[in-house]
Amino acid sequence: MKQLSICRPDDWHLHLRDGKMLAAVIDDTSRHFGRAIIMPNLIPPVVTGADAAAYRDRILSCLNPEHHFTPLMTLYLTETTQLHDVADAAKRGLVHAVKLYPAGATTNSASGVRDLEKVMPVLEMMASIGLPLCVHGEVTDPKVDIFDRELVFIETVLDPLRRRIPELRVVLEHVTTSDGVDYVKNGGKTIAATITTHHLFINRNHILAGGIRPHYYCLPVAKRESHRRALVRAAVSGDQSFFLGTDSAPHLDTAKLMACGCAGIYTSPNTMSCLAHIFEGESALDRLEGFTSLHGPAFYQLPINKERVTLVKQSEPVIYPKSRATPDGELTIFDCGFPLFWAVKS
Ligand code: DOR
Ligand code: ZN
Repeated sequence: MKQLSICRPDDWHLHLRDGKMLAAVIDDTSRHFGRAIIMPNLIPPVVTGADAAAYRDRILSCLNPEHHFTPLMTLYLTETTQLHDVADAAKRGLVHAVKLYPAGATTNSASGVRDLEKVMPVLEMMASIGLPLCVHGEVTDPKVDIFDRELVFIETVLDPLRRRIPELRVVLEHVTTSDGVDYVKNGGKTIAATITTHHLFINRNHILAGGIRPHYYCLPVAKRESHRRALVRAAVSGDQSFFLGTDSAPHLDTAKLMACGCAGIYTSPNTMSCLAHIFEGESALDRLEGFTSLHGPAFYQLPINKERVTLVKQSEPVIYPKSRATPDGELTIFDCGFPLFWAVKS
């Protein structure tokens, strides 16, 4: 039996939703993770410091008292976001990042940013206080092919923005391309990227070949195999610029399995087993802790978690349920396509 003890992991990109869904999914994160950066794309979005404080309280009220979990709140950047409100929420330690959704890029992004000019003063203030900007890095121009949207975003939005405000600290969320990996690798200390669990396993064939698989549909959409390999290499490389952000994004099966299904994959329950499988396959188990537990706090300038967790490799596969029941219906859990032998023991 193999064992691995690591510092308790954090999830630097997580959707917890609200209400009944929040109550149904929170345990799957708080059981294993110490902290998570909580995405603000609720309806209505979490825009102000007051919104974030109220949302944080709703999350805390659902927490299992035996779990030691801290939600790290973010604000949803809009063209009318108030600079002083963001600065105040950051100063109070309530908010740890601001999220940029290009309007229309993904789930609940309609209130996002159309014209970056309008948010420049907020971004300049964030640069001056070191508050990170998390970006959904895809252009929304319908003329741009969906598989090219990340690269075009980097070239036409992200790089010009970083040249204009070089001190702005940016997280390129859920990077999906070798181009994105290279950009971050060579981008210096002000940029990092999160990598999701699912993008380490699936390429676009998994979504489309041999039948359409709505449970593998997410945004940014998985790319071809060479890009998946680049993500795996980045994750296991030990480069501090890359860390875990699951983008675990629960949607009810009824919302996924329809003519126009929602984007999002629910990976919180089995993420640590999945990651240990990938890192072991790359002979890089010694780098798992960096990816899940050390690089993220370093970028966010937070201490690492004091607690530790133990991963144990079992002789029999760990059995995860296919779905979670919620009061409104089933929620399918990510099926990585392989038997998983690594279990989280504490
Ligand atoms: O697949 C996704 N789901 N990508 C996103 O950017 C948003 C997320 C969600 O909120 O469902
Ligand atoms: Zn997300």
